[in-house]
Amino acid sequence: MTTAARRIDSPLHSVADPIDALRVRADFPILETTVHGKPLVYLDNAATSQKPRAVIEAIMRYYQGTNANVHRGVHYLSEAATEDYEGARKIAQQFINAAHSHEIIFVRGTTEGINLVAQTFGRTRIGAGDEILITAMEHHSNIVPWQILCEEKGAKLRVAPINDHGELLLDEYAGLLGPQTKLVAVTHVSNALGTINPLERMVEMAHAHNVPVLVDGAQAVPHMKVDVQALDCDFYTFSGHKVYGPTGIGVLYGKTALLESMPPYQGGGDMISSVTFERTTYNKLPYKFEAGTPDIAGVIGLGAALTYVENLGIENIGAHEHNLLEYATAKLSAISDVRIIGTAKEKASVVSFVIEGVHPHDIGTILDQQGIAIRTGHHCSQPVMERFGIPATARASFAVYNTREEIEALVGGIQKVKEVFA
Ligand SMILES: Cc1ncc(COP(=O)(O)O)c(C=O)c1O
Repeated sequence: MTTAARRIDSPLHSVADPIDALRVRADFPILETTVHGKPLVYLDNAATSQKPRAVIEAIMRYYQGTNANVHRGVHYLSEAATEDYEGARKIAQQFINAAHSHEIIFVRGTTEGINLVAQTFGRTRIGAGDEILITAMEHHSNIVPWQILCEEKGAKLRVAPINDHGELLLDEYAGLLGPQTKLVAVTHVSNALGTINPLERMVEMAHAHNVPVLVDGAQAVPHMKVDVQALDCDFYTFSGHKVYGPTGIGVLYGKTALLESMPPYQGGGDMISSVTFERTTYNKLPYKFEAGTPDIAGVIGLGAALTYVENLGIENIGAHEHNLLEYATAKLSAISDVRIIGTAKEKASVVSFVIEGVHPHDIGTILDQQGIAIRTGHHCSQPVMERFGIPATARASFAVYNTREEIEALVGGIQKVKEVFA
């Protein structure tokens, strides 16, 4: 029982696929792994993506050839490391079309990007009685930092609701924007449902009330072209590890004027211009927000990942994944007792589902025995689970290297689960 088939056109007749997934797979050494004697079928990409050789080798090259601290040395290695580090910043700038490279702040990931904004912009601009507007489909990373801030400041968290397909109710969102709203914080793509939000409209509506918008881009950047200037969002943050890069590194984009007006996030080395015991002055952007020795290898790895994606073409990757999404949606919809959770018209790369009478954890365990990796649980989106009246879902999520054969394997695996629980 599902409404998904109704909402996706011609699911079995997708457009020509611009990606040769078999060739791409050769770039990812881990995909040769066998699990429980079966070839690995990795469908947990929304949690983290696998890494191409280009990324692994870039990190190795740094540690083997140019390892030194950045920004501080005049010696050869330090200059080489700094050049690669700052080169990655330019790559990230171009990747999301930021106007300036100083608008790219390196952080640990999406979670830290959001916390940075909450603790700097939030602590100075949001006070008692003010409101922060989020949506009902946010990841915990885009809920809890705002709750912490609200508690500290006496501010209020407002939540724009979603419909039964997992789509934002835009009119309700519009109705929640008002003079008390000081920030909108919204996910670009829902990790639990796959919904793509109508960001341009949302930003326009918020700006009509002079409200800045922070976008959680963790699940968007790996799948679609993101142009922060076209979106006109004020902050945009994403994680490297979901876009074929290393863990522990991510990007926070912010418009220059906002970043300039914000106090530093953490104090320490590199973020200062001068220090005396009486007074410290802060460094210019982006260094004001990058205290201490950064994750140099991670930044260089992220640069290699974004270059890898650029070379394949993000639109090609998106088209390939969309084909897989349509195929999987049609196949899973056809299995009795499988219900897809999240049937928005605009979706990216995620199929969340439940099987009548089977706990998602059991689905994951039985699939694992067949070498198939999916995620089960609340996906750090407990309010989404509550909205749909379920404790958890099983979630398959696709990347550039996935194939239709892997979806067939998933379908076969689900049949096995059903047999076990028949
Ligand atoms: C939509 C969304 N936001 C935020 C995050 C947090 O990302 P990270 O753990 O890399 O900081 C995730 C991770 O799953 C996510 O899917």
